[in-house]
Amino acid sequence: MQFRDLHRQYEAMKAEMDEALLGAARSGAYIMGPQVAELEQQLAAYVGVKHCITCANGTDALRLALMALGIGPGDTVFVPDFTFFATAEAVAMVGATPIFVDVDKDTFNIDDNDLCIKIRDNQNKGLAPRAVIAVDLFGRPADYDSLQEVCEEYGLLLVEDGAQGFGGFLYDDRKNCSFGDISTTSFFPAKPLGCYGDGGALFTNNDDYAAMLRSLRVHGKGTDKYDNVRLGLNSRLDTLQAAVLQVKLRHFDEELAAVNRVADKYNCLLQGKVKTPKVPVEMGWCTSSWAQYTIQADNRDEIQARLKAAGIPSMVYYPRTMSRQTAFAHLGQQPCPIADRLSQTVLSLPMHPYMTDEEIETVASLI
Ligand SMILES: Cc1ncc(COP(=O)(O)O)c(C=O)c1O
Repeated sequence: MQFRDLHRQYEAMKAEMDEALLGAARSGAYIMGPQVAELEQQLAAYVGVKHCITCANGTDALRLALMALGIGPGDTVFVPDFTFFATAEAVAMVGATPIFVDVDKDTFNIDDNDLCIKIRDNQNKGLAPRAVIAVDLFGRPADYDSLQEVCEEYGLLLVEDGAQGFGGFLYDDRKNCSFGDISTTSFFPAKPLGCYGDGGALFTNNDDYAAMLRSLRVHGKGTDKYDNVRLGLNSRLDTLQAAVLQVKLRHFDEELAAVNRVADKYNCLLQGKVKTPKVPVEMGWCTSSWAQYTIQADNRDEIQARLKAAGIPSMVYYPRTMSRQTAFAHLGQQPCPIADRLSQTVLSLPMHPYMTDEEIETVASLI
């Protein structure tokens, strides 16, 4: 698409968002205004699940999910070693122990072989494995066919951390954020569906979990908000953010197509120069929402320096795995070799729906 068309498309969406924001601000219903409930219905319909419960951010969403599933002290929860800190942090925040699992070298997602090894090891040690948190890292779904089987075999709950994955889907149109007993996402501005601040959501088909989550996000409320039947959080999505997200959701499929076009172009230009993310079409079983376009290269620091010199931002997601985080040093878990290697070689390039061909070519030419 030409720059002028991209620009026009973005300006049109921005004008709609300005209007929606002004409307929400003038309504005075800043907390739990009508836009919040409307958005929840729209998000549930988009993902294809029964319930969506919005909340303040993706970290709270994970914590709320674990609370609703009754996970706490004495329980162990398996998380990928290569992810954003919040995935493992949420486990520790509810008093459970995160167990770090290695990831697949191509998809960056949790490796089901290592997962099975670690589940059995946990069982042999007499620990209490309760759940797996799979992450849709950089936008591509984890291997849910396999993960759902593993969870069934070992009697574990499955939580999907779809903070980066909203909009991705598996081959038969099963969308990210529909795979867990409870799935979560984040609306942090840099995420595939981003708002103008912090925001998050949970998705489930289970009526009891949904009711529990609606209570937990408002201080554990009972039938009214001053009848508190349990301890919870204060974790609601602002009406203003809901208003922005309603507009963005209307344009979301166009943006998704646009980021896939950017990824295709990067893949073509970078083939043979660095290890490009596996092209989902070639793999034949999923589509990414491209929260990040992440290459692997032994000389990534050199590449990053070259981009920086040309004024082009790039980021290392993530330079330190979970098992190497200071906050988890007391757990004394062995590092995971593939996650370790990725932390030394990955580099995320500029990626958004409004990148022009010229911008993509400039980045590629510097690699
Ligand atoms: C994989 C993953 N999980 C959880 C989160 C937490 O989301 P939030 O920043 O909205 O709390 C993030 C945010 O970067 C993330 O990337």
